[in-house]
Amino acid sequence: MAVTAHHQVPTPVPLVDLQKQQAALDDRIRSRMEAVMARGDFILGAPVTELEAKLADFAGTKAAITVANGTDALQIALMAMGTGPGAAVFVPAFTFAATAGAVAMTGATPVFVDIDDVTLTMDPKHLEVQIAKVKKVGGLKPQGIIPVDLFGRPADYPAILGLAQAENLMVLADAAQSFGAARNEGRVGRLAPATTVSFYPSKPLGCFGDGGAILTQEPALAEACRHLRGHGFDPAGEARQVGLNSRLDSLQAAVLLAKLEVFEEELRTRRQAAAWYDQRLSARLRTPLLESKDRSAWAVYAVRSPRRDVLQQALQDAGIASAVYYRKPLHLHAAYAGFGEGAGSLPVSERVAEEVLALPMHGYLDEITVERVCDALLQAL
Ligand SMILES: Cc1ncc(COP(=O)(O)O)c(C=O)c1O
Repeated sequence: MAVTAHHQVPTPVPLVDLQKQQAALDDRIRSRMEAVMARGDFILGAPVTELEAKLADFAGTKAAITVANGTDALQIALMAMGTGPGAAVFVPAFTFAATAGAVAMTGATPVFVDIDDVTLTMDPKHLEVQIAKVKKVGGLKPQGIIPVDLFGRPADYPAILGLAQAENLMVLADAAQSFGAARNEGRVGRLAPATTVSFYPSKPLGCFGDGGAILTQEPALAEACRHLRGHGFDPAGEARQVGLNSRLDSLQAAVLLAKLEVFEEELRTRRQAAAWYDQRLSARLRTPLLESKDRSAWAVYAVRSPRRDVLQQALQDAGIASAVYYRKPLHLHAAYAGFGEGAGSLPVSERVAEEVLALPMHGYLDEITVERVCDALLQAL
C-alpha cells in the first residue's frame, strides 16, 4: 500500500482487471497479432476462420459467424430470421439497451417482459401474459423472444422454448454476457436455435475493441448471417438481401484466439471468486443464488440491497470500483418509453434496478482482494 504523510491510500481495486490479464497473456497475444501484421490479411483473414471454427467447437454448435459487435450480432440474426415491421419481439426490460435496440432497428416492436426476482432473467410467466396481451390487442404479430443471460447466467430456456413452441415463436438468445456458461441442457450456444455473443473488452471473453458472433445449429440461418455481415452478398457475388458491413477484424480474432486458450481456466477462477463472495456475503446481503444445475460465466457479480447507494459510496471510499447495471429498466428510458407502459408496469425490473451493485469480478481476482471488498461492504451495512 502507498503511504502519504497523512493517511494510507488504499490500492485501487478495479471492476475488471484487464492489465492483470494482459500481463499473463502478453506473449501469446502479441505473437498472434504480429502474424496478422506480417501477413496483412486484416479483413476475414486466417484468424477469423480459425476463430469461427474454435468458437463453434467450444460451444458445440454447427456454426459460428463472427461480426463487428454484439449489437450487430443481434440485428443480423433478427434480419436473418425475417423480423421486421409489424412483428412483436419479446425482450426483458432489465437488460442493456442493445437487446431492444436491435429489435427496433429492424422495424419490429420490442415488447417488454418483467424479470424473475431470483434469477434476474426473463420471467416465463410474465412472458406468457405479454404474449396473450399482444394477441388480444392486435396490430402486432408475435414473432420472437430474446431471452438475455443477464450477468452471465443462462435464462430459463426450457420454459421459454416450451412457450415459443406452443406459440410458434422464434427464440434468439442474447448471450452477450454469457459465452462459456451452461445449464444442464448444454452450453450457451446450444440452449436456443440461435445465440449472439459480445467480445467487448470487459466481457468474459473480450477482445481489444468491439467484436461479436452468432452461434447456431441451423445451416440456413448461418448462411444468411454470413451474407448479411457483408452487404448481403452470397459467394457468387449476388447481393441477396440488403445487409451491413459488420466483420470482425483479423487482429481482434487473433486476440480472441489467444484468450480462448485460457478461457476455461478463467471461467474456473471467476467461479472461484463468486464462491468466495458468496461465502462471505450471503448471510448479510442478497447474493446471486445459482441453482446447482446452472453454470454462470460470471460476467458480473451483483449483490442486492435497498441501501445500494450507501454501499457503493463505502466501496468508493475504500478505493474499490463498483458499478450499477442497470440504473433504469429500458421501459423507463426516453428512447424506449413508447414501447412500454410506464413506471409501475414492470415492478420486479424497477425494484432490481434500485438494488443491484456489481462488485469487482474477473478471472484474476485473488481471495485477499475479495476479502477486502467484502469487509468494506459488511462494515457499511
Ligand atoms: C445484454 C447485452 N446485449 C447486447 C450487448 C451488445 O454488445 P456490444 O457492446 O458488443 O454491441 C451487450 C453489451 O454490453 C449486452 O450486455
